[in-house]
Amino acid sequence: MSKVIVTDHPLIQHKLTLMRDKNTGSKDFRQLLTEITMLMGYEITRNLPLEDAEIQTPVVNATCKVLQGKKLGIVPILRAGLGMVDGLVNLIPAAKIGHVGLYRDPETLQPVEYYCKLPQDIHEREMLIVDPMLATGGSAVAAIDVLKKKGATNIKLVNLVAAPEGIEEVKKYHPDVDIYVASIDEKLNDHGYIVPGLGDAGDRLFGTK
Ligand code: PRP
Ligand code: URA
Repeated sequence: MSKVIVTDHPLIQHKLTLMRDKNTGSKDFRQLLTEITMLMGYEITRNLPLEDAEIQTPVVNATCKVLQGKKLGIVPILRAGLGMVDGLVNLIPAAKIGHVGLYRDPETLQPVEYYCKLPQDIHEREMLIVDPMLATGGSAVAAIDVLKKKGATNIKLVNLVAAPEGIEEVKKYHPDVDIYVASIDEKLNDHGYIVPGLGDAGDRLFGTK
């Protein structure tokens, strides 16, 4: 069964409150999302496998640890997921980046796929799907489906704010995928928005609407 890891460090909670505030503009919203993703990255990467490397320090020969194997893959769900890429790439500069384009039909709330470009070797990498919002869970489930169809076997989902409904949906369809979130909010409203949430993440990030 999926593990749900809530990364509620005080700095993350403080910055998330600033993001929720409707008076926070796009520039600060973007900056805060990058900062929070970086802080979440510390937990997300906690169990990455290591291997020995022989090096020479200025003093002696030494056996030290380095990350093992191919570095991570990061897959933002377009558009809003793009806001979580820089924070992770700051930590893991060698990560490969794929893109899955999905939008939520405002009437049916069903995800519609419009773009997909992924690294060739996703079956050899731990893949992080990133999207600030996990609402009904439809977009996340569809993105995970896409990655699995292309061969990914090791996937984590990274969201900023999640509704309980979205978490249950991912657990139901993808029990092998662990979910990292900064906050589990109260519920969805009748329009499928997370409450209290932060509004439309894509619009706030890019200053659209
Ligand atoms: C938002 C958000 C998620 C999705 C979450 O994207 O970034 O991808 O909705 O909703 P769900 O869990 O109910 O599927 P949106 O469709 O607004 O597209 P955008 O990122 O292009 O604004
Ligand atoms: N997508 C968003 O951007 N915000 C929500 O609250 C729900 C879906």
